[in-house]
Amino acid sequence: MRAIAYTQTGTPSVLQLVDREQADPGEGEVRVRVVRSGVNPTDWKSRAGSGAGQSLPFPEVVPNQDGAGVVDAVGAGVSGVSAGDRVWLYLAAHGRPTGTAQEFTVVPAERVVRLPEGIGFDLGASLGVPAMTAHRALTVAEDGPTRLAPGALAGKTVLVAGGAGAVGHAAIQLARWAGATVITTISSPEKETLVTAAGADHIVNYRTTDAATAIRAIAPNGVDVVVEVSPAQNAELNQTVIANHGTISVYANNGGSEVTLDVRRHFALNVRYQFLLLYTVGQGALAAAAEDITAALIDGVLPVGEGAGLPLLHFPLERAAEAHAAVEGGAVGKVLIDVAE
Ligand SMILES: NC(=O)c1ccc[n+]([C@@H]2O[C@H](COP(=O)([O-])OP(=O)(O)OC[C@H]3O[C@@H](n4cnc5c(N)ncnc54)[C@H](OP(=O)(O)O)[C@@H]3O)[C@@H](O)[C@H]2O)c1
Repeated sequence: MRAIAYTQTGTPSVLQLVDREQADPGEGEVRVRVVRSGVNPTDWKSRAGSGAGQSLPFPEVVPNQDGAGVVDAVGAGVSGVSAGDRVWLYLAAHGRPTGTAQEFTVVPAERVVRLPEGIGFDLGASLGVPAMTAHRALTVAEDGPTRLAPGALAGKTVLVAGGAGAVGHAAIQLARWAGATVITTISSPEKETLVTAAGADHIVNYRTTDAATAIRAIAPNGVDVVVEVSPAQNAELNQTVIANHGTISVYANNGGSEVTLDVRRHFALNVRYQFLLLYTVGQGALAAAAEDITAALIDGVLPVGEGAGLPLLHFPLERAAEAHAAVEGGAVGKVLIDVAE
């Protein structure tokens, strides 16, 4: 089968098209014929490594955590999915040498989720990292909810930083589905069009507006949850707009890793800072996210594509290096690799 693999960290050029044997699923594992492989920042960061010469966890790595396709074979003890099922995958390459940038991949059964009727592979391959991260960010507030469903966030105001990003897009959609009022920040008119299509109630261009004043005008009592991509750059904004008992869910360090906080202003408002990383959040949270995302898919509220606020950028498998370079270069939208038709 055709696969993309790398044996050393580095630029996208380390990604090579290779021919490999299909692996058989072991106990508790599922083999999936991959149709789409989704590319996320985590995939290029793993490939790039933290510096030249950094060793890999495996002699050879097939990249990409997200994907969608059709179950091809199941190992002993697997229930819930069977051959022929259309599925999406999450954390396919976590702790394993091979992810979704190949024609067949083998993953633990709990990371394989059935696609509801009528949901396509493009959307399936866009869910894993972005939607699960968004779900976690929206379910860690002190007063809940711990699960998302229609009405779960009714009466709450959610601020999504950078809503035109892949995680931000899913956060807008999930928060709206759960009944929240959604404010999002963006940096350009192009992104304003996208977050409007995604369904944001209020949009604040943080480059042309005093974002704190604008958000306070929209939410005079403050925002209940911030879904934060850039905690260092937005620390001052967040402490100005957060509500009493509000939560700031931090899922990335875009724009800097060190945050300075005014302790007094935060304890005065009982603010919760909650950090999150999918790789270490635990299977309970991942399974809850997968269930709620499935319900949202059935309700039709997680579309992707330009008209839904997340343009799709397709690359054939042999151009996986360009797909990685696009994500690394900050492409607006969702980068997908077409592994099969
Ligand atoms: N913790 C986890 O488990 C986890 C999971 C998923 C992703 N991540 C990380 O999250 C980050 C984003 O991932 P992604 O796939 O969503 O990337 P993406 O599609 O490239 O989106 C990144 C977004 O960040 C926004 N941004 C940057 N600085 C901002 C600021 N100061 N204020 C508001 N928005 C800002 C950008 O929007 P503007 O141009 O409008 O500023 C952009 O839309 C990456 O670093 C990724 O590694 C972490």
